Amino acid sequence: MMTDGREDSAELVGEAAHRGLSARGAHIAGGANGLLEKGFDMYIRDPFDAERNPQGILNFGTSENRLCYDLIHGRLTKPDMTYLEPHLLQYSDTQGIKSFREEIAKFLTEYAKAPSALDPEHITVMNGCCAVFATLSTVLCDPGDGYLIPAPYYGGINSKTWLYGGMQPVHVPLFSEVTNEDGRPFQLTIEKLEIAYKRAMEQGIRVRALILINPHNPLGDIYPAQLLKECLEFAHRYQLHIIMDEIYMLSVYGDTTFTSILSLDSLPDPDRTHFMWGFSKDFGMCGVRVGILYTRNDEVRKAVNKLAVFHACPGPVQHVLSQFLSDREWLDNVFFPTNRRRLKEARNILVDGLAEIGIPVFKSSGGLYIWADFRKFLKSQTFEAEMDLWWKLLQEKLLISPGKAFCCYEPGWFRLVFSDSVDKIYLCIQRLQQMLHDKIDESIPICSSLVKNEYCKSDDETSNYMSTSVDDVPEGCSHLKKIAVF
Ligand SMILES: Cc1ncc(COP(=O)(O)O)c(C=O)c1O
Repeated sequence: MMTDGREDSAELVGEAAHRGLSARGAHIAGGANGLLEKGFDMYIRDPFDAERNPQGILNFGTSENRLCYDLIHGRLTKPDMTYLEPHLLQYSDTQGIKSFREEIAKFLTEYAKAPSALDPEHITVMNGCCAVFATLSTVLCDPGDGYLIPAPYYGGINSKTWLYGGMQPVHVPLFSEVTNEDGRPFQLTIEKLEIAYKRAMEQGIRVRALILINPHNPLGDIYPAQLLKECLEFAHRYQLHIIMDEIYMLSVYGDTTFTSILSLDSLPDPDRTHFMWGFSKDFGMCGVRVGILYTRNDEVRKAVNKLAVFHACPGPVQHVLSQFLSDREWLDNVFFPTNRRRLKEARNILVDGLAEIGIPVFKSSGGLYIWADFRKFLKSQTFEAEMDLWWKLLQEKLLISPGKAFCCYEPGWFRLVFSDSVDKIYLCIQRLQQMLHDKIDESIPICSSLVKNEYCKSDDETSNYMSTSVDDVPEGCSHLKKIAVF
């Protein structure tokens, strides 16, 4: 059964057609929601609130950064934000207001470390990266075409590329087992891309693109510059478009160096290389719905800009975000350092709490989540057992995201979003503990063979512990200070 939004129930399609929808409309209406949407739908009907609904669902499943509302609120309520001119209330350039694109170009040149100034004319502003995926897939591919994507991956891409573009994912399956000496779990290699590409060709699927997410969702991994370049070469070799989703570009809290494709001196195929980024994650503003596409391909941009009329971003929002991006002093000295520190602290608290329960996590450096190994809590190593555990956790009012929602090929992995208040993280750990308590064999040491694994290595190669620095643990978390993780 597919769970990616392409899953059709014949009954639902039939019913929609009966109600007067076109075949296409019936197909869309009949498609089932993905697991991420299903979990979110349950959450919004019964959301946790410390005062009003303390027994409600805790949402550790949706990738939102809720750590810097105080800072953002402070900045967005400054007098320069309340400016309004008549033109902001009129129709404007569907590609995005020029002054806003200029600000974005300057910002990305600096923060993505581009070797020369980015061109505002290469930018299209839309209402979120979901819209960028939808429009790009529509203009780059014909229905039935495929795109290569390493799995696990952010499952929302399936519906975004399918609903308009009719594209199908061609998975490059990655596994946790490490098969060579310098390997990592879930490691992407060019060989794996080649195998998946050839298999798709054999099945008659025309592969048109390669989609990469960096920093990765859900792994929180960062692609080394060398691998990135090899992927670009691979795409060039087969004349594939490469769509780089760098929406978590500035949510990097580890020591690993992040390389944006915008920073590369030369690209093997600039005309087929497309970059996206947005305000949802790095600025904790998924509600403002703004994402951008940067492409040097004039034809692609011409087509995207025509569709952008359906995905425009309101004038006053573009003004506010221009002001926001141009305040470098505040961004550099207040927002980014605080955001990074809070991300790191929140992550450490969650990782430590999970370690107490005996749940290992994949070593990450970016993103708002951790990829955790619940395999020992599954009744059997199957996706049915994974779903079973997911539902049980939901009954305990805890929403986390099962690996299946990310098309993971191994059952038992879950993504937990950590970018939330310390109180909620504790509650999450408490609910997990309650739920898993019966299954925990007290005699299992935290360093069991399952837990102590290569992927739990710290950056310091001499140590097999990924321990939280005591200094990083905020007030009120003292009981966690003594825990050696893994
Ligand atoms: C990797 C990735 N790309 C894109 C999106 C969608 O972003 P937006 O809110 O800009 O539509 C998400 C949201 O979770 C994501 O994780």
